[in-house]
Amino acid sequence: MFVKTAEFIASNTDVRKLPEPSLPEYAFIGRSNVGKSSLINAMVNKKGLAKTSQKPGKTQLINHFIINKDWYLVDLPGYGFAQTSKKNRAEWERFIRRYLTQRENLQCIFVLIDSRLEPQKIDLEFCCWLGEQGLPFLLVFTKADKQSGVKSDQNIAKFRKALLAWFEDVPSIFLTSAEKKQGMEEILATIDEINKNFIPPIVEQQ
Ligand code: GTP
Ligand code: MG
Repeated sequence: MFVKTAEFIASNTDVRKLPEPSLPEYAFIGRSNVGKSSLINAMVNKKGLAKTSQKPGKTQLINHFIINKDWYLVDLPGYGFAQTSKKNRAEWERFIRRYLTQRENLQCIFVLIDSRLEPQKIDLEFCCWLGEQGLPFLLVFTKADKQSGVKSDQNIAKFRKALLAWFEDVPSIFLTSAEKKQGMEEILATIDEINKNFIPPIVEQQ
C-alpha cells in the first residue's frame, strides 16, 4: 500500500466520543516505550505525526489518525508504565480494555514487543487476555536495528513457544525497525488485505 495522506483526527479519553466507526480501524499497543508512536510514523512516512519520546508514558490518549482518507490508525498509551500510581494504572487499563472490546470497526490489534527482550510476563498476559476476548491480534517485534538478527530471531522463537502454551497457533509475526524502516511494507500489505473485506457496522441512530 502506498500512503498518500496521513492526518491526525482526534485525541480522546472517552470511548463514546471516538470518530464514527465507518472506516476500518487498526490499533497499536504494547508496553510503554516499546516504539508504538515511532512505528506509526515510520509506516506512514511522516516524522512527528505521532508524538514520540525517550521517556516512557508519552502517549496518554486514544489518538486517531486517518490514512489515505480510507482507514484509521490508532496510537494507544503503553501498558506497564512503572512511574505512575497504581490507581492511575488501573484506570488506564480499564479505559484501554473498554476501547479494545467495544470498538465495532476495530479490525486488528497490533501488539508491539521489544525484540531485544526475552518473553515478558506482561506481554504474554496481554496476548492471553486478547485471546480470551476473541480479539484478533498480530505481533510486531520492534527495534530490530538495536541488535543482531540472530538475537531477534531467538527472542521471537521464545515468545512463540511461550504463547503456544496458551494458544493452538500463533498469529503472524513482523520483525520491524522504525529507525531503518524495516517491516513497514509487510504491515501495510496486511492492512490492505483486511481493508478489502471491511463491511461498516450499522450505527444506530439516536
Ligand atoms: P509510549 O507512548 O510512552 O507508550 O511509548 P511508545 O511505545 O510510543 O514509544 P516511542 O515511539 O515514543 O519510542 C520510544 C523510544 O524508542 C524513542 O526514544 C524512540 O526513538 C525509540 N525507538 C522506537 N522505535 C525504534 C527503533 O526501531 N529503533 C531504535 N533504535 N529506536 C527506536
Ligand atoms: Mg507513544
